[in-house]
Amino acid sequence: MDQFFEQMTEDIIGHPLFQQLRLCTHHGGENSLYIHSVDTARCACRLARRFHLKEERVRAVTRAALLHDFFGYDWHSDAYKQTLRHYRGWRRVKQMHAFAHGARAARRADRFFPLDERQRSAIVSHMFPLAPVPKNAEAWILTLADKVVASREVSAAVGFYMRRWCRKVLPAVHHRTERRSWSA
Ligand SMILES: [Fe+2]
Ligand SMILES: [Fe+2]
Repeated sequence: MDQFFEQMTEDIIGHPLFQQLRLCTHHGGENSLYIHSVDTARCACRLARRFHLKEERVRAVTRAALLHDFFGYDWHSDAYKQTLRHYRGWRRVKQMHAFAHGARAARRADRFFPLDERQRSAIVSHMFPLAPVPKNAEAWILTLADKVVASREVSAAVGFYMRRWCRKVLPAVHHRTERRSWSA
């Protein structure tokens, strides 16, 4: 699986713009857009094989999954929030990251790694139900893989912050109880 996965994806993973995703935090903790995208692609590849898709469709959905969050900006940044201020009401909601980044990622990915129609539509709809209903098997597989990986990453991030909080708070509590037992 690893060798097969590498052959299908090495041109994208090795591209400098894709490598930049390492710098973008995503689902909290130690997660980045790079880790999220590669894990989603691996998961989509496994699902596509489990559903017995033909080899070229396994390749198509794996590559689409790798590029599904290739929107190319930091949506936590002030600059992004500033651009949203140009819109009002419903138009603003439609421009919000959660609703719009699938279409943006598809447009940008297409410029660097030409996509076919199924891949484009899978990327556009990966945020279903916040995006249009997935229209084909590739789109459903990508939507499912993204959600499976995202929930795993969010739980890992909760664990990460809990451990960090414990490391900060427990020594202080330990120190206080130690002082109390000395003074007793
Ligand atoms: Fe996404
Ligand atoms: Fe995602």
